[in-house]
Amino acid sequence: MLILGIETSCDETAAAVVARDAEGRGRILSNVVHSQLDEHAPFGGVVPEIAARAHVEALDGIVAHALVEAGIGFADLDGVAATAGPGLIGGVLVGLMSAKGIALVHGLPLLAVNHLEGHALTARLTDGIAFPYLLLLVSGGHTQFVAVEALGRYRRLGTTIDDALGEAFDKTAKLLGLAYPGGPAVERAALDGDPTRFTLPRPLLGRDSLDFSLSGLKTAVRQVAQAAAPLTDRDVADIAAAFQATVAEIVAIKARRALAAFSAQTGVAAPVLVVAGGVAANKAIGTALRAVAEAVGAGLVVPPARLCTDNGAMIAWAGAERLAAGLVDGLDAPARARWPLDADAVPKLGS
Ligand code: KG4
Ligand code: ZN
Repeated sequence: MLILGIETSCDETAAAVVARDAEGRGRILSNVVHSQLDEHAPFGGVVPEIAARAHVEALDGIVAHALVEAGIGFADLDGVAATAGPGLIGGVLVGLMSAKGIALVHGLPLLAVNHLEGHALTARLTDGIAFPYLLLLVSGGHTQFVAVEALGRYRRLGTTIDDALGEAFDKTAKLLGLAYPGGPAVERAALDGDPTRFTLPRPLLGRDSLDFSLSGLKTAVRQVAQAAAPLTDRDVADIAAAFQATVAEIVAIKARRALAAFSAQTGVAAPVLVVAGGVAANKAIGTALRAVAEAVGAGLVVPPARLCTDNGAMIAWAGAERLAAGLVDGLDAPARARWPLDADAVPKLGS
């Protein structure tokens, strides 16, 4: 089965071709990602209107590129998948409408994919892992623990009550005068920093909570940065290191709790924790999670960074899994700015 996947929900224009064999194994034939970073960088964040226009300009070429790289044409496809939400609605519309056009012209089934489902299922493409598993999704827009029980059955165990983790990295970078996007810049700065020079709060929201609260941390970073101003390179490195170490510790504590809760709820004694989303590329967080997994006898899967950040392969793969299960969408499938990854929010068979 060959599926074209299109992703346009944020600032990456992406298309990919993924194959799924009869045993359910996946293979990436092409994965083309065009980042709009340069267009948004002057504004220190993604500008929705600029993003939507840039998707319109780039998408046809990116799709053609993905097909050429895979060595196939539209006629070889078995389905076309696109992100139908959640995300910036202008961009989502561009990708979904393109997919509908391709589906209509070439007589292909349409798969309207939840972007979060794409992130959630990537580990099955890269590592072939079986259901159920625990997902930690950490990106610019999302921070959540999800019990991935089966295709289309996702149960959220915890989320952020304010900022997303990637957003906290981006805002910290801005406060420290570092480049956008902030995650990689903070990680780089932290390499030379002393994480013990500044102490930041660790909001854990009670003994059992699996929710995150990160806006207080941002305020603390601002206060520390203002008190130390004007900032030297050493100050920036030390504050970045303190922030990153604090975040890694919070994530590790929550992951330990979430693994315990997941085991108790599913009866799986040695669960697998999958980390996805752009922040999964962070090495300090990865190291902290590896220690937790080892301590509690859990498995840890972190897909390669280019598949953790937004891409078309994850959408193609989610589409392939859905098509294999008969979960096809109609050409009236709506684009959604908001679309939580709960069981009830994912379209059911035939809808
Ligand atoms: O998943 P993603 O590419 O886009 C969505 O938000 O859907 O995630 C982007 C986020 C940004 O906030 C970026 O700063 C963060 O992931 N990020 C990182 C790293 N690389 C990207 N955060 C921490 N460390 C990194 N190495
Ligand atoms: Zn994403």
